[in-house]
Amino acid sequence: EKSGYDHFMLKEINEQPTALRQCLRGRIDELDGTIDLDDIADLDHDGPIQFVACGTSYHAALFGAERLRTAGVQAHAYLASEYASERVPVDEGTLVVGVTQSGETADTLRALREAARAGATTLAVTNTVASSAARECDHALYIRAGPEIGVAATKTFASQQLALALLAFALSDGPTREELEALRDIPGQVQTILDTTDARAVAEAYADADAYFFIGRGYHYPVALEGALKMKEITYRHAEGFAAGELKHGPLALVTQNTPVFAIVTGNGETARKTIGNVKEVEARDAPIVAITDGESDVTRYADHVLEIPAVGDLGGSVLANVQLQLVAYWVANLLGRSIDKPRNLAKSVTVE
Ligand code: F6R
Repeated sequence: EKSGYDHFMLKEINEQPTALRQCLRGRIDELDGTIDLDDIADLDHDGPIQFVACGTSYHAALFGAERLRTAGVQAHAYLASEYASERVPVDEGTLVVGVTQSGETADTLRALREAARAGATTLAVTNTVASSAARECDHALYIRAGPEIGVAATKTFASQQLALALLAFALSDGPTREELEALRDIPGQVQTILDTTDARAVAEAYADADAYFFIGRGYHYPVALEGALKMKEITYRHAEGFAAGELKHGPLALVTQNTPVFAIVTGNGETARKTIGNVKEVEARDAPIVAITDGESDVTRYADHVLEIPAVGDLGGSVLANVQLQLVAYWVANLLGRSIDKPRNLAKSVTVE
């Protein structure tokens, strides 16, 4: 059932173009230039939006919340396990979105139940039809990634990103023509990355590193966190993701010749220029730099390795950059002989709080 791949994880990484096409199927109206989400046709909301989620799904939620704020909607992502302690204000006017691949994560279910008790409208964004989250929430939006066997979430993260981008457009001003086309083109561009990636060579160059750091800004910050989480989970190596601007506030002390820094940079605007400023800071400490970039800026000048992605702007670029990081983590774990599909101490579905 691994279809010739050594691991489910690699199979699932390679299934992403198909998963993403399934996620989009019937949801983009090319003629009208609109997004139609049949699953939530009766959801009509124009108040604040809160996301609750854990782990990789939380990283997708950070991305979705940012997309909504870009459209002027008040939105914030919370760790489900902290939702109660943080005393997040929630009432009848709030939409609370649980992002959960399995639909069974205990912390996420609990946060959704608390929100429902406070009168909020609830929405599950999930991969699993008839899961607890889908059944208990007022609404469910399916990401349609297909079954994921590897414990490390890969294709379901990409599908969550895409489904949350669709949701954000559906709950705000619809997409422009260019934005719509950009969404539609993502599956093909993921295929291009899978066909041309140098991730294995990068993994070989740095399989003996002391630690792996990932930096990004804006949409690329959740991807930096996700790149590090994937690396930790399957290689058992120290990895951290940082908001690029936070480096000089402490983490820079960890940076050495043996800690590669993966920098996600797309476009050539202010966000890119600021991250390149941070790249220069780590370059001055002799850290190897791996740029995940569309080649629009001069970040390649400072990079020891470049993992290329097509130029599609920041939103799509963060989906594409993540695919390169999945592959780097996979190949490092493979070189180290790890139990890639079933990492130690981890379960696919976490049903205890
Ligand atoms: C990481 C991973 C976990 C899950 C988390 C939430 O690769 O898979 O961090 O994302 O346990 O799971 P779901 O999305 O099922 O709620």
